[in-house]
Amino acid sequence: MEILDDPVKIKSLDSLDMLGVEEKFYDQLIEAKKIAQSVDISRLKLPNTAGIAILGMGGSGFAGDIVKSLVIDSVAVPVEIVKGYELPGFVAGNWLVIGVSYSGNTEETISAVRQALKRGCELLAVSAGGEIERIAEQNGKTHVKVPSGYQPRGASGYLFFTTFLLLGRLGFIKISDNEIEEALSLISEKAELYGRNTGTEKNPAKKLAVELFGRLPVIYGINGFLSTVAYRWKCEINENSKCPCFWAEFPELNHNETVGWDNLKEQTQKMVLVVFRDAGASDKIRVRIETTVKLIREQFDLVVEVPVEGKSRLAKALSTIYLGDIASVYLAFLYNTDPTPVDRIAVLKAELAKLD
Ligand code: F6R
Repeated sequence: MEILDDPVKIKSLDSLDMLGVEEKFYDQLIEAKKIAQSVDISRLKLPNTAGIAILGMGGSGFAGDIVKSLVIDSVAVPVEIVKGYELPGFVAGNWLVIGVSYSGNTEETISAVRQALKRGCELLAVSAGGEIERIAEQNGKTHVKVPSGYQPRGASGYLFFTTFLLLGRLGFIKISDNEIEEALSLISEKAELYGRNTGTEKNPAKKLAVELFGRLPVIYGINGFLSTVAYRWKCEINENSKCPCFWAEFPELNHNETVGWDNLKEQTQKMVLVVFRDAGASDKIRVRIETTVKLIREQFDLVVEVPVEGKSRLAKALSTIYLGDIASVYLAFLYNTDPTPVDRIAVLKAELAKLD
């Protein structure tokens, strides 16, 4: 475990400085705010918008997931997440389609963007460049250019925060200055606490990585934004730590998965269960979590309860995402793994490109 407090070893393992990217998450959010403010929205024609479809895969798709979970209570039109080649049939010409692809070259997103243009939808494209930028420009559509040089999952601040703030600027949701300030100041506080210079003893992100190390993680979220956060943890553990990880959400898991922990005890005894504790959750959800943990605790090697910090939903989501993101990078180091490369994703994309 010493590696977590050994900056020289970390540097030699972390070829493209994924930890540095995480440590600068706050700066990324500040820059994303500036980008959102500077976008020329005059070309977006949005009279009587019937719905919003947000397209994207993987790290870019996460932007749509988290935006939807944050706006769903207040937005007046349906928000549909599309993670594939096809737009649903009901996405018509009076919909706003937001195409998010960090590289701008992800084939599923390009295919769905092309369908949107054929149907006459309004398009807002978000990327660091690539084909999506070209398509938007050729069709006279609005393109939001985010800085290049990151892994898509390491650019989540740019992708998600810009999209979220733009929905505010376009009048689809109300975002208060207070919630933004609260979220940003919480992230700035956590950046210091979770960074490499805070030793494991005092660093919750390093401690979490130690608890996950050597055990197969199962992350239980809560329907709503904490479900999206659980899925983000799973994906970050997969991509950064190169480790299997599974997830589910309350209350749905109480109707199936809860009874699935009887057999294969030899395997489950090597697993760690992570649950989020949100003081703002309803009593029903609180009792579900407590009862479920009591019922299945014995099947796991360890159960970790993660307190959700912050007042607003935005602050809670961002701070919990941040903890999972940075812990997954520390977990990579514990496995002696470079967090940045995602070779199998690249192989798959290259194989599929041969079909074009
Ligand atoms: C890599 C990553 C992937 C990509 C996905 C889509 O860091 O997170 O999940 O996000 O393969 O590619 P982009 O984001 O370029 O559209």
